[in-house]
Order: sequence, then C-alpha cells, then structure tokens
Amino acid sequence: MTITATGHSYVDVASGARLDAWYPTEGVDPVRSCLVEQLGLIKGEVVTTTIDPDSPPVDAADAYLRLHMLSRREVKPNEINVDGIFGHLNNVAWTTAGPCSPDQVDALRAAAGAKGEHVQVTGLDKFPRMTDYVIPSGVRIADADRVRMGAYLAEGTTVMHEGFINFNGGTLGPAMVEGRISQGVVVGANSDIGGGASIQGTLSGGGTEKLFIGENCLLGANAGIGISLGDGCTVEAGLYVTAGTIVTLPDGEKVKAKAISGRPGLLFIRNSTSGVVEVRESDPARWGGINEALHAN
Ligand SMILES: CC(C)(COP(=O)(O)OP(=O)(O)OC[C@H]1O[C@@H](n2cnc3c(N)ncnc32)[C@H](O)[C@@H]1OP(=O)(O)O)[C@@H](O)C(=O)NCCC(=O)NCCS
Repeated sequence: MTITATGHSYVDVASGARLDAWYPTEGVDPVRSCLVEQLGLIKGEVVTTTIDPDSPPVDAADAYLRLHMLSRREVKPNEINVDGIFGHLNNVAWTTAGPCSPDQVDALRAAAGAKGEHVQVTGLDKFPRMTDYVIPSGVRIADADRVRMGAYLAEGTTVMHEGFINFNGGTLGPAMVEGRISQGVVVGANSDIGGGASIQGTLSGGGTEKLFIGENCLLGANAGIGISLGDGCTVEAGLYVTAGTIVTLPDGEKVKAKAISGRPGLLFIRNSTSGVVEVRESDPARWGGINEALHAN
C-alpha cells in the first residue's frame, strides 16, 4: 500500500537542498510565503509525494510526509518505518522569517535588516517544531520548542515546559508530560511523566528495545526508567531504574529490573536507609491519578 499527498516545500536556492515540506490538511491549498523566500534565498515549490509506509524513507519530502502522519495521529509511533530518517533531513536554521540554510543566515540578517526586519533563529536542527506544521486537537504545549515534528500527542495530552517529546514517540491517551519521551517510546492514558523524568530511548547507547509506559503510571520527578512499565506502576521521585539495576521483589528475590519489564502494578522505591531498590505491589489508591483540573485541555 502506498500513500500520496501534495504539499509545499522550500528549497535552498544556492545548494538546491530541500529544507522542509508542509502537507496541509485536506481542503487547504499548499501555498506559503515567507521573508526568506521574498529575499531570494529559498524558493517554494509544490511537491506530490508517494510513500511506502513499510519501507524506509527515501528523501526529505518522503520523510516529512511520515512526520506529518505521526503528528496528525494518522499512524502511531512505531507503526510507520522511519529507519534512517536523519540521513534524509538537512540541518536547517529555523528562523522567524522562514527556514534557511545555516550558511545563509548572515546573508538573511543583512537583507532582512535592510528592510528593517529583525530575524530570530529559534533552532538549528534537522527537525522543526511540530506546531509550525501540525496542530493536533485537544492538546496543550506550554513551550512549542519542546515538541519535535513527528511527535504523537493523543487528545488530552499536556506537555509542560520541562516536558519533551521526540519524533516517533508520544502519548496514547490523556497524559501529563513534564519529563522526556524519547524516540520510539509511547506512554499510556492517564499516566504522568514527572518533572525532569527520563525514559530511555534507543538512538544512542543503551539497548535496542523500544520502551513503553502503561496506563495510570506515575514516573516521579527526576526519576528515570530503562525498562517498560505495565499499567498502574509508580517510580519514586529521583530513582533511576536501568535494565541492569538489581531490584528486590516483595518475596526477597533479587533480579535485574529487565526481568520484570512491562509487569503491571509495581512501585519502585529506593530504600532511603539501605539504598536497596525495592519493588513493592503498588497501591492504586495511593496515587489518585493525574490531576483532572490541572490537566484539562
Ligand atoms: C514513592 C512515592 C510514590 C511513595 O509515596 P507514598 O506511597 O505516598 O508513600 P509515603 O511517602 O506515604 O510513604 C509510605 C511509607 O513508606 C516509607 N517510605 C517512603 N519513601 C521511602 C523510601 N525512599 N525509603 C524507605 N521508606 C520510604 C514512608 O516512610 C512510609 O512509611 P510508614 O508507612 O511507616 O509511615 C513518593 O515518595 C514519590 O516519589 N512520589 C512521586 C511524586 C512525583 O514526583 N510526582 C511528579 C511531580 S512533577
């Protein structure tokens, strides 16, 4: 099965590099204009792109269509092939005047300045912010820089300033994100990723297994997790559990945390007297779930 879409793409005039592609929702014309284009540094063109979602991306226009499909919630993370996507994306200076090749930023400043326009560079990256291309319904994002194009935010998701969601990662239901969701990681409904918490990804170091966090989980502030969590799990604030962390089960058995990856209903807590990481049965009544009033969208 292939998918075809028509979009609008900006290309660097000097090098011919494709800087981005925007695929508007149905009924909206693929037309854009920006100052960088008016100053002659980039040119806009209409692209019609056909992709095979099961095969790796083949070029930048293809890569952008996949990222749009993820952010538009047309496919969930890990349901579309994004292997090698970095290699097809150019590093871009994302500016308030439009996308620009990084080596053209000085020329842009000078030309824009001559017209009394001040240009800000909001990022130098292969991926833009999601919100410059896709606005999913029913979500809150306190700082748009923290959500990369290709992130998947289910209806009812709130991403606070410290939260971060990478491409091909996200939330499958209403969730509170104040920590970091890595590429390939999904978080279930009614879970809370506490301030500064981290969930290990697979892009550098670490393992190759893509992690998930189940429903009704609480990853405490500054906690970290290198295994998957089943539904109804809690990790104590500040506790980092990697796959190799030796944990003590309720019956006293000691195992590597990866042995219980994905098991539901557990509380991970570091005994503050002995330093031992204990796994207890979690009491769902102790944590009342995400704060409905605070998290309503
Ligand atoms: C792990 C956690 C969930 C435990 O909370 P709790 O279940 O409400 O437990 P309590 O703090 O009431 O403690 C229960 C018992 O365990 C003990 N206990 C708690 N933490 C302990 C620790 N690290 N080591 C040893 N004992 C501990 C308490 O002293 C208490 O003992 P008691 O029953 O004899 O009085 C909580 O400490 C935590 O880290 N919450 C995360 C909150 C958070 O970060 N939210 C996100 C905000 S952005």
